[in-house]
Amino acid sequence: MTSILEFSRARQAGRPITIVTAYDVLQARLVAESSVDAILVGDSVAMVVHGYPSTVHATLAMMCLHTAAVRRGAGDKFIVADLPFLSFRRGREVAAEAAGALIQAGANAVKLEGVAGHEDVIVHLVGSGIPVMGHLGLTPQSVHQLGGHRVQGRTPDAAARLQAEARRLEELGAFSFVLECVPAALAAQITHGATIPTIGIGAGPDTDGQVLVITDLLGLDGEFHPRFARRYLDGHAAVLAALNDYAADVRGARFPAREEVPA
Ligand code: KIV
Repeated sequence: MTSILEFSRARQAGRPITIVTAYDVLQARLVAESSVDAILVGDSVAMVVHGYPSTVHATLAMMCLHTAAVRRGAGDKFIVADLPFLSFRRGREVAAEAAGALIQAGANAVKLEGVAGHEDVIVHLVGSGIPVMGHLGLTPQSVHQLGGHRVQGRTPDAAARLQAEARRLEELGAFSFVLECVPAALAAQITHGATIPTIGIGAGPDTDGQVLVITDLLGLDGEFHPRFARRYLDGHAAVLAALNDYAADVRGARFPAREEVPA
C-alpha cells in the first residue's frame, strides 16, 4: 500500500490489511520485499530494540531516528509512525511539530493512542494534511493507568465506552484505528459498525486487518510469547544455532576457510 485510499479500498473489497512493525533499515527492506501491506514504526521500539520495560520511554528523537532508518529501506511502502508518550498531549502546536517531524522523517501517517482530551489535536493534524490512525483498547502508553497490559472492554460499560471512542475517532477524521487486546466479539461489533478500517492485535479474526510486532512474528525473543502473536519462525533457535556454529567453526579452525581469505 502507498496511500490511505488503499486502506479504505481494501476494507470495501473485504481484503484483509496486513501490517507489521519495523524498526531499522534491514527489517524495512525485508518487509518491502514481502507482500505485507504496510509498516508500523511502533513505539514498541523502546521495549523491543532499546530494552525498556514499557513504551512510555519512547521519545520523539527515538521515533524520528527509527522512522528515517525504516524509510531508507521501505521503498514506497506505507509507513505509520507512533506519536510517542505525551507528545500529543501538550497542545496542538507541540503535537503538530511532533507529527511534522515524523512525516519529514519518512512516515506517511501517524498513530496516536486514545481520544478523550486530544480531539482537537486529531482534527488539527487531519486538517493539516497528516493522516491519523487511532489506537483503542489496550493503549500501552497508559499502562500505569490501566494497571498493566490487560484485555480491555470486558464489562458492558467498558465495551460501550470503546464503541463510543471508535465512533468519535471516525467523526474526527482518523483514516483507520488499531484495536488492541479487546474481546473478539467486541472487535467484530466495532468493525461491523465502523466506516473506516480496523486493525486488530489480540482482537480476534474479525477486524479489517492485523498488525504484529516483527520480533514476535519471527520468534526472536526466547522468553516473550504473547498468546495472540503467532510465531512464523523460531528465529530465536535459528539465530542461536548460527551463532554457536560460528563460534564452533572458529574454535575448530574451520572459519575462515581458504576461499574466505581476501587475496
Ligand atoms: O507500538 C506498537 O508496536 C504498536 C502495535 C502493538 C499496534 O502500537
